[in-house]
Amino acid sequence: MDKIIIRGGAPLSGSVAASGAKNAALPLLAAAILAEGPVSYRRVPHLRDISTMMTLLAYQGAHVHFDDQSCLHIDTRPADKPEAPYELVKTMRASALVLGPMLARFGTARVSLPGGCAIGARPIDMHLKGLEAMGASIDVSQGDVIARAEHGLKGAHIMFDQVTVTGTENLMMAAVIADGETILDNAAREPEVVNLADSLRTLGADIEGDGSNRITIRGVNSIRAGDIEVIPDRIETATYLAAGIITGGDVTVTDTDPSQLEAFIARIRDAGVDVECGRDTIRCRATRRLSSVDIHTMPHPGFPTDLQAQFMALMTTAEGTSIICETIFENRFMHVQELARMGADISLDGNTAVVKGVPALSAAPVMATDLRASASLVLAGLAAEGETEISRVYHIDRGYERIEEKLQKLGADIERHSGSETWMRGVTFD
Ligand code: EPU
Repeated sequence: MDKIIIRGGAPLSGSVAASGAKNAALPLLAAAILAEGPVSYRRVPHLRDISTMMTLLAYQGAHVHFDDQSCLHIDTRPADKPEAPYELVKTMRASALVLGPMLARFGTARVSLPGGCAIGARPIDMHLKGLEAMGASIDVSQGDVIARAEHGLKGAHIMFDQVTVTGTENLMMAAVIADGETILDNAAREPEVVNLADSLRTLGADIEGDGSNRITIRGVNSIRAGDIEVIPDRIETATYLAAGIITGGDVTVTDTDPSQLEAFIARIRDAGVDVECGRDTIRCRATRRLSSVDIHTMPHPGFPTDLQAQFMALMTTAEGTSIICETIFENRFMHVQELARMGADISLDGNTAVVKGVPALSAAPVMATDLRASASLVLAGLAAEGETEISRVYHIDRGYERIEEKLQKLGADIERHSGSETWMRGVTFD
């Protein structure tokens, strides 16, 4: 298993380009199931989760391949197996995103029910209730969700009890070729949802209201072939900015979208970081020790839960005490014990972490437990004097494209040890 070794302590500087967003690309790939022709994607990140979604679509019979220009092409016309097996779903919960489009297209779908994961129970009950409201029958047998809608899905008015990102995306895709109008209320407003709606419109869908909490989808007869572009990864962007900040450096992320990171930018400005935003760039300079700032994670446009661990890493060496409240996932504090191994002073009370800033972190062997927790350990390692060894880095590979290469470009002393995984470069599933 790969390890990452970091010799920290040096300020990072320079610029690095954002990759395409994993959480935008995953539903966009699933949307190809709806299209009556090939769909081409630009800016798909080369990540383990993307490879899992490609494998899933190929399993269903689709033609899936990256060309020489890193453009991904998916043709689901030959697909004839509307299933997502346990072997794939257990490695990536977002596999459930194929449920809505498969059911809409085939009138039946079988998807293994995702279990809990490191950050919480994460049920998909709201996805299923929404599909039932659209006329589907849902059974659970042998760990699989079996959904049927032999006469097609029907438009419905769906009110989510809680904001759900992939739930909104799943039902939006299901509604695109359903009969009649679907209204999604208390819908997720995340930029990834807007990217999906924009892309589906490019392919001929009739959707409005995305970016607000009410999305209206009027069913159309079919969705055509087309070209799609994945938006920049806001979480990756903020992680590289945080790498500059935690080392007292000067880092610019290019090819990104500052408007998607307003809550993060506001909080780091409160902490004393000098932030300059251009049209598609963000530059952060940390010229003095950070001040402690409190955060509450919230659905977009609130502070993203996917940046909670990285922000906590920043607060470990800030002046004063920071209160970090996680309101989205009940168990997303696995990084706390690992950060403590590096000298952080953090106590937990339910969904709240109290972080007392210490003057410096110290290097230690630590273990990655989930994707964003791993990112916080990389940040801590970059700041700590000495050599930090992070094991189980496959978690990082799920969401950060060439992380050590990008950090090296900023001057970090970071390397990966052992079994290099080449599972993505040049992969073809034809
Ligand atoms: N929830 C339910 N029932 C449902 C759906 C969600 O109770 O049917 C609960 C969840 O357990 C959670 C809350 O609602 O407590 C919000 O979950 P949501 O459905 O929004 O999460 P998700 O769609 O499964 C996506 C991202 C996550 C990100 C969350 C929140 C993708 C592929 N994943 O997950 O990304 O943390 O939204 O913003 O888009 C990551 O990239 O590291 C990651 C975990």
